[in-house]
Parts: sequence; structure tokens; C-alpha cells
Amino acid sequence: MAIQISPSILSADFARLADEAAAVSGTADWLHVDVMDNHFVPNLTLGLPVVESLLTSVTVPMDCHLMIEDPDRWAPAYAEAGAGSVTVHAEAARSPVRTLREIRGQGARAGLALNPGTALESYADLLPEVDMLLMMTVEPGFGGQRFLDLVLPKIRRARDLVAANGGSVWLQVDGGITEETVERAAAAGADVFVAGSSVYKADDPAAAVQALRAQAEKAAG
Ligand code: DX5
Ligand code: ZN
Repeated sequence: MAIQISPSILSADFARLADEAAAVSGTADWLHVDVMDNHFVPNLTLGLPVVESLLTSVTVPMDCHLMIEDPDRWAPAYAEAGAGSVTVHAEAARSPVRTLREIRGQGARAGLALNPGTALESYADLLPEVDMLLMMTVEPGFGGQRFLDLVLPKIRRARDLVAANGGSVWLQVDGGITEETVERAAAAGADVFVAGSSVYKADDPAAAVQALRAQAEKAAG
């Protein structure tokens, strides 16, 4: 299980996004971009035009997390624009199989996100269609919230499910990941860690990425 770190630019300075991305380009595996539409979640961030611009100046592969209504309509365009990974929410997608296939068809990795209260078991049959399961460890919408330990049993069940299916699906956690909570999430079986405030509110974002990676690797064994 290879540990990967995906800093979330939600906690970065939005007036300097390309510089903020460059600050972690030597240490991060992905750049996590939170697309919020003020409907699926009560917050508004950025959309396709900003992602398209960022893609021209960012070297780290982009991990787009769509917290929007109607991801079926919009997700394939993020993949077509060049995002390396595009994740849609199970609660929002009306035709998840078709949408996940369209994302893959555009050459990106396809992710399926579950809110803390959404049961993993309802989506177990979709596993062959996904490259990554995103387990939200906060309610989506805002950075800087506390990690929800109640999601840990679901992460363990997801690890078992993935192992039973050949083990190639990545398990991402998003929300409240710090040097402290990353250990619990890694021990439960997560292998891709999104971190917003613990990276971008740190004095040295690149060093914060390395510290998270070291803690996760230690806990994952
Ligand atoms: C929240 C977003 C997260 C957010 C995490 O809905 O999906 O990606 O940036 O922020 P932190 O790491 O501060 O909890
Ligand atoms: Zn996110």
C-alpha cells in the first residue's frame, strides 16, 4: 500500500493559486481541488475555467473533488481538461456507472465519494467501476473541521472490501487530517490523504506534506 498525500488548495491563498501549488510540487503526489457549487454543499469555490487555467501552470497531477449537484453533467469535462483524477459524490450522481465510465473514457482515474453518513455497502457493487473511494471524514463544505472518528469503521470495511476485490482501488480520506489523525486513518486502511489546513496553514507547506507522509507510513506499517 503506497501512501500518497494530496494537499487541498481550499486552505490556500486563492489570489496566488499557482504559487501555492508550486509550494508543494516537490513533495505532494496530487493537488486536491475542491469544486463546490453552493447547492450540494453550502459553500462556493471554483469551477472548470479556474481548473483549466491551473492545469496550464501546475505540474502536480490534479485531484478534482466535485461537491456539486449534477456531477453526471460536469465531471467528464474535468477529465477532458486534463485532471488526473475526478471524484463524484455518490449522493449527487444520478447515473454513477455511466459517469464513472465517462471519466475513465477521458483518461482520468474515476473516484466515488461517500459522506460520513452514507453506507459503503450500498456502493459495493460499483467497485469495479472506480479507481478510488473517497471516504469523507467531515461533512463536506468547509476546511478546518474536526476529523470524525465515527468514519474509522467504514474505512476498515472499505479496506477489507477492496482487498477482497484484488486490492487496486485507492482509499482516500478527506477532512480533519492532521499529523495526529493521519495515523488513525492510515491504521484503518486509508492510503491517500487529503490535507487542507494542516498543509496550507503551516509555515512550511512542503515540510507539512513530508511530516504527514512520515506519520502515515509509520502507522500503515
Ligand atoms: C471539505 C473538503 C476538503 C477540505 C479539507 O469539504 O472536501 O478537501 O479542503 O480541509 P481540512 O484538511 O482543513 O479539513
Ligand atoms: Zn475535498
